[in-house]
Amino acid sequence: MVKTALVCGGGGFIGSHLVRRLKREGFWVRGVDLKFPEYGDTEADDFVVGDLRRQEVCERIIDRRFDEVYQLAADMGGAGYIFTGEHDADIMHNSATINLNVADLAHKRNIRRVFYSSSACMYPAYNQEDPDNPNCAESSAYPAAPDSEYGWEKLFSERLFLAYNRNFGMENRVARFHNIFGPQGTWDGGKEKAPAAICRKVALAKDNSEIEIWGDGLQTRSFLYIDECLEGVLRLTRSDFEGPVNIGSDEMVSINQLVDIVAAIAGKKLHKNHIPGPQGVRGRNSDNRLIEEKLGWRPSQTLTAGLEQTYEWIERQVRSNHSKAA
Ligand code: NAD
Ligand code: GDD
Repeated sequence: MVKTALVCGGGGFIGSHLVRRLKREGFWVRGVDLKFPEYGDTEADDFVVGDLRRQEVCERIIDRRFDEVYQLAADMGGAGYIFTGEHDADIMHNSATINLNVADLAHKRNIRRVFYSSSACMYPAYNQEDPDNPNCAESSAYPAAPDSEYGWEKLFSERLFLAYNRNFGMENRVARFHNIFGPQGTWDGGKEKAPAAICRKVALAKDNSEIEIWGDGLQTRSFLYIDECLEGVLRLTRSDFEGPVNIGSDEMVSINQLVDIVAAIAGKKLHKNHIPGPQGVRGRNSDNRLIEEKLGWRPSQTLTAGLEQTYEWIERQVRSNHSKAA
């Protein structure tokens, strides 16, 4: 029998890559999203353009006993979207409504297991003030104090999916993603995250010119390449461990170091102009002890290897946008 999967948010960055991966594994796949993937066609067998905030849409798409359901749909973006405060009500309302609908409909249709993508943004701000020594161990989540409403919604929704496990015998799985990047991710328009934004800025800059960086560039992060993210998602979904567990890289770098790596890939010498901008926590790194213990696996690809592929793709987007505009 051919296995079936539903990917909510299948038109987004991680969702469209996941659809492709599941197709490679031989699944029949349905994607659902507000929009088709922005950069290329979907490989889903069935793609529904629909709004998961609407219950009747959820009733229509969760219409069978899927073998695997992935809930990735969310109102999300990088620091320029989630830390300005301007989108707080939308982020909380939109994402919570999607999650309430998907969790409940999955339960009513007897789907046993939904994968839910939470975020490292749910970790308390007080543990992420030291850029050299942030604490993002799964056990450090409480007392809760995320620094964004986006993080609070993630915390609520991961609890929601786990409550369905306890009360209704579901086997939902929860991961906390740490800044996922790669080709076909949002690279302009305001929702892009640092790796894509820096690749775009470097691609646009002339050799020996200046690029703008938000903050002093000493804030730290780790970035996980999309293929390893998907590997972690599938391993967790098919395991006996419900989570929540970090899916992230533990190769922590400062934003200045991120810029230096991308500039070296591009073969450009660039000067950093540090300007005010939304920054979020001062330091963040994935703690991978739990994933290793529970799944016997942890991400291992270097940041540079992922950035080489990402820069190449973004540089091509920049060039083709320029030639369209010319
Ligand atoms: P993305 O924005 O590319 O994908 C999310 C998709 O959800 C979008 O295509 C969007 O159109 C869709 N969506 C939003 N509202 C919808 C609605 N009402 N109905 C149907 N579809 C709707 O983001 P992504 O990077 O692919 O992230 C996927 C998931 O992983 C999200 O839940 C996100 O919060 C989580 N996450 C991502 C990262 C990361 O670094 N990319 C980090 C932490 C958590
Ligand atoms: N986006 C962006 N663009 N960030 C920049 C830029 C720029 O041009 N210049 C410097 N930065 C800095 C930001 O100020 C921030 O301190 C850091 O780079 C990382 O920014 P992002 O990658 O945009 O977001 P984040 O790491 O704070 O949060 C992201 O990861 C979370 C999971 O770890 C977001 O994508 C969240 O939605 C996600 O949940």
